[in-house]
Amino acid sequence: MHSRFLGALALAAACAPLTATALQVTLPAETAVYVPSELPGYQLVQQNCLICHSAQYVLTQPRTLPRSYWQATVEKMSKAFGAPFPEQDSAAMVDYLSRTYGAERPAAAAP
Ligand code: HEC
Repeated sequence: MHSRFLGALALAAACAPLTATALQVTLPAETAVYVPSELPGYQLVQQNCLICHSAQYVLTQPRTLPRSYWQATVEKMSKAFGAPFPEQDSAAMVDYLSRTYGAERPAAAAP
């Protein structure tokens, strides 16, 4: 009979939440944040770059990239993707990004 089959389904559905509570889910620490810095660009990236995505995209770029890459990326965010930060913020953000995530970072401060 169908009703017995449906009954079994209902029982299975009722048990599902019990099974779920037995699972232990430990999430990794949130690492997709900008590395704190004294550089003025740190405040600016917090303000201008987190509107659309986390720092993940920045963190996953190779650490060997030159200032010109960060310059081009900041420009791309503004011109191609429409990031609404004022033009005068660019230089400080490029400086922070190059010195924190790019080829200009001090080796000891590698994030
Ligand atoms: C208006 C939304 C927006 C803002 C604001 C924004 N981004 Fe992006 N960003 C994007 C999009 C869209 C992509 C492309 C995502 C993809 O390709 O999947 C991207 C990708 C990136 C990447 C990956 C490399 C690449 O060239 O695609 C980096 C690095 C990056 N953003 C850095 C920044 C930085 C630094 C800032 C602040 C200056 C910033 N973003 C602000 C939308 C934004």
